[in-house]
Amino acid sequence: MQKVLIIGAKGMLGQELVNVFKNDKDYKVTAWDFGQIDISDEVQVKEKITKLSPNLILNAAAYNAVDLCEKDKAEFEKAKKINGKAPGYLAKVAKKMDATLVHYSTDYVFSGLPELPEPAGCGGSCSSCSLHEGFVPQLGFDENAIPEPVQKYGQTKLMGEEAVQKNGEKYYIIRLSKLFGKPAKSKTAKKSFFDVMLAVGKKNVSNVDGVKVVDEETSCFTYAPDLAKKTKEIIEANKPFGIYHVTNEGACTWHQAVVELYRMAKIKTKVVPVSSDEFPRPAQRPYVSTLINTRLNPMRSYKLALREYLKKSKI
Ligand SMILES: NC(=O)c1ccc[n+]([C@@H]2O[C@H](COP(=O)([O-])OP(=O)(O)OC[C@H]3O[C@@H](n4cnc5c(N)ncnc54)[C@H](OP(=O)(O)O)[C@@H]3O)[C@@H](O)[C@H]2O)c1
Repeated sequence: MQKVLIIGAKGMLGQELVNVFKNDKDYKVTAWDFGQIDISDEVQVKEKITKLSPNLILNAAAYNAVDLCEKDKAEFEKAKKINGKAPGYLAKVAKKMDATLVHYSTDYVFSGLPELPEPAGCGGSCSSCSLHEGFVPQLGFDENAIPEPVQKYGQTKLMGEEAVQKNGEKYYIIRLSKLFGKPAKSKTAKKSFFDVMLAVGKKNVSNVDGVKVVDEETSCFTYAPDLAKKTKEIIEANKPFGIYHVTNEGACTWHQAVVELYRMAKIKTKVVPVSSDEFPRPAQRPYVSTLINTRLNPMRSYKLALREYLKKSKI
């Protein structure tokens, strides 16, 4: 039997990891959140985890207030501790116990300006040779792309990736984007984008101007239960350690996703595409941050996952 420790167990992803692993008798699950451990305290991490002695540590704990840590120095320091340093403490203790660590990261480690890929065999950036005929470039960042965050939150998550790589041995760094699913049980829980937009859509049905939604920030949604299942699959398949990109298929902007959401939920509210300048926020977001997966079987489309989520939430 494998002893698995899930940290951040009351978070949106953490709660789904608990569901997936506890339903399998091959695993003995320990679920910890802030009440049981503060991962930014190295002494606690070392003592408590060594005592528990798990074979597998899944770290879904994080600081996720992207805008707050951009504008507030103290919050940035907090984010650096939780996202930047703590993963290194977990990696160290995992290495000492010969345990496997799974750590989650984000598309926000990337700049948002991916290089335009060339078709195989095309030597330069000609964009005009015959090899370009019928070639549809996939715009985004694969597992080997060089990170270059454009905001402080992304910097802290990149620090965390580097700390795991420096201090760990048996680790998976799984990058995801735009997580959605059942709201978390934790104190700082935020509703996911789709829940917020459902409420906005219902409230504005009779508003002739409709609702404005940013038609930028192209990336993929990630359904928390699908990511939890994929995590278990990666571990059980003994995939090589390293970086993985796990999202649902179908890159889109926020606007495109809301059009789909309202169609599925039969909400008649008009959805108006706008630029991100209409909703200024402290932290810059990457313009395109699609995570390209070259190492795993792809997950289902976000549209199928969203349909399931709406059905389960009885919407
Ligand atoms: N949400 C997204 O759209 C998104 C996108 C890309 C990547 N990710 C990454 O995906 C992972 C899971 O995100 P999520 O949205 O599921 O997170 P979440 O819902 O915010 O949950 C994080 C959990 O970690 C706990 N936590 C925070 N600081 C802690 C500490 N120092 N020690 C122990 N526990 C602590 C929180 O407890 P409290 O609430 O009590 O503080 C909360 O229960 C994270 O690595 C995140 O960076 C998320």
